[in-house]
Amino acid sequence: MASQNIYILAIESSCDDTAAAVMCNAKVLSNVVASQTIHQAYGGVVPELASRAHQQNIVPVVHQALKRANIDKFLLNAIAFTRGPGLLGSLLVGTSFAKSLAYGLGIPLIDVHHMQAHILAHFIDEEGFKKPPFPFLAMTISGGHTQIVKVDGYFNMEVIGETIDDAVGEAYDKSGKILGLGYPAGPEMDKRSQLGNPKAYKFPKPKVDGLNFSFSGLKTAILYFIQRETKVNPKFIEENLNDICASIQYTIIGILMDKLKKASKQTGIEHIAIGGGVSANSGIRKALKEGEKKYGWTTYIPKFEYTTDNAAMIAIVGHLKYLEGSYAEQSVSASARLKI
Ligand code: KG4
Ligand code: ZN
Repeated sequence: MASQNIYILAIESSCDDTAAAVMCNAKVLSNVVASQTIHQAYGGVVPELASRAHQQNIVPVVHQALKRANIDKFLLNAIAFTRGPGLLGSLLVGTSFAKSLAYGLGIPLIDVHHMQAHILAHFIDEEGFKKPPFPFLAMTISGGHTQIVKVDGYFNMEVIGETIDDAVGEAYDKSGKILGLGYPAGPEMDKRSQLGNPKAYKFPKPKVDGLNFSFSGLKTAILYFIQRETKVNPKFIEENLNDICASIQYTIIGILMDKLKKASKQTGIEHIAIGGGVSANSGIRKALKEGEKKYGWTTYIPKFEYTTDNAAMIAIVGHLKYLEGSYAEQSVSASARLKI
């Protein structure tokens, strides 16, 4: 019976998380992530440190994933890995490891596009989570990406809007830095936002054509606003932190929802999925749920551990590509910039 099952080991190393997962068919057997804390001291990811940490983490992380799945490596049908986009040095570690393991075991190697994986994470079998029907719109929001993608099939996707500068997670992290918060600042800003008044301060929304986004102007507006206010009251941040966070979050969600509404109207698609680290945000989740009532949308939010960078999402793409016999050559190389 075992031969009917498809076992995939997946590796993700595109940024600052070293992750490995084992999947049986579309079910996750293990999903291990080693987050690199070394970057906190620098207020952002330091690429060279990230690749070195991946080198240290990759063997124990893969080992843990196999152990937790209770699977012998000789049972594996294929090795999937993130080919890109991401930090080149980081990608190289996962790519080289996956290539050697697949070669050593004599099994297929499957290259995975990180952004496709964030979207296809919705197709992991998970109790209580529904899968979107095609076509649907996927908004991927994280520290490295902000895109709206029209998804017509597993491997038939079109980016219809994306950021022209910072990603939305960067907007959170950079404004958090201005406020003196640690890195990454998104989760704390989200928590504080729930205690503050979202309309206490007004920040400008950027005017960007079509379905594209821009977040760098917001960061600058926040910087000038804070400089101005702290000149008058040096304790301004301390005394108003929750209101400041709530107002920034309100502005960011407004920007995201405006484009999402526009995309839905333009395409006529009312099935809306989100993915990426920022989809953990309570305000975005609430706004999407309101969208169900207000605009008749059906929304899809993946399980929390499949929203931030993880290898289970790489494994589901590996599984789908395995079914199609879509394998990579041993000559495949990592690619920092890879189009969907
Ligand atoms: O997907 P992810 O783990 O890694 C990247 O590919 O970037 O996303 C990390 C980003 C960070 O910018 C972090 O501040 C943000 O997601 N983030 C949040 C929340 N949780 C994580 N932003 C806003 N609200 C949250 N609850
Ligand atoms: Zn990501």
